[in-house]
Amino acid sequence: MIKRLLARLSNSSMPQVELQSTENIPKHVAIIMDGNGRWAKDRGLPRVAGHHSGMKAVKQVTITANRIGVKYLTLYAFSTENWKRPKAEVEFLMQLPQQFLEIELDDLIANNVQVRMMGYEEHLPKHTLYAVQQAVEKTANNTGLVLNFALNYGSRLEMVEAIRSIASDVQAGQLQVDQIDELTLSSRLLSSNLPDPDLLIRTSGELRISNFMLWQLAYSELWFTDVYWPEFKEAHFMEAVKEYQQRIRRYGGL
Ligand code: IPE
Ligand code: IPE
Ligand code: MG
Repeated sequence: MIKRLLARLSNSSMPQVELQSTENIPKHVAIIMDGNGRWAKDRGLPRVAGHHSGMKAVKQVTITANRIGVKYLTLYAFSTENWKRPKAEVEFLMQLPQQFLEIELDDLIANNVQVRMMGYEEHLPKHTLYAVQQAVEKTANNTGLVLNFALNYGSRLEMVEAIRSIASDVQAGQLQVDQIDELTLSSRLLSSNLPDPDLLIRTSGELRISNFMLWQLAYSELWFTDVYWPEFKEAHFMEAVKEYQQRIRRYGGL
């Protein structure tokens, strides 16, 4: 309770960064939240302290995205490759959805946010999946920001699965090879209920995609920052959105 009050106070005392224009707000922003481990290391803390601290950034970005009218916010929280990490770190990461939702779910509901999950349910610990599913169910009818957690998500795997499902429909005679088009594939991806991201943000200075939404990012605008995820604030998010507003998207045309 005290923690929540303090969080509210610190939010309300923070000056809000405003956009110069309300035109051209990205409809879907996707974020590769990276640099938690290095943030902690720089402070002589264990890596997991960085993951814990990253929750504040998740909260702040959600509030800001909702406020400026972003419709979808996809946050890369755990990749299908992150299982390679030490068991203790994976276990800690798997506690975070529960911890985050325990503190924030009421506020998310009050702010009309709809929680979704994009990823493979297999291998997720029961408590992790339960917490996320509860949040998804309780917010299913909300009509505000869609807060989409990419949890146990991997883009190559999702494409392999989509191709398998197409191949099996062809084999069963339910689909002709010449009927296969972009929609056939995109409608079988985990993102089938989302528009493609307009803006991709990656923190921590890494300039790569790390198996995130490879198909869906075909024409997204990319924005990178050296800031580590636990330090990512409203001002950084707004800087990215402002730059997005200036970009000219050509989609191969003129
Ligand atoms: C991002 O931070 C969180 C996850 C990938 C789960 P990292 O844990 O990758 O932090 P760095 O990149 O090692 O600093
Ligand atoms: C990408 O970050 C995955 C998430 C942010 C969840 P990583 O830290 O796993 O990516 P690499 O290993 O640096 O490419
Ligand atoms: Mg990393």
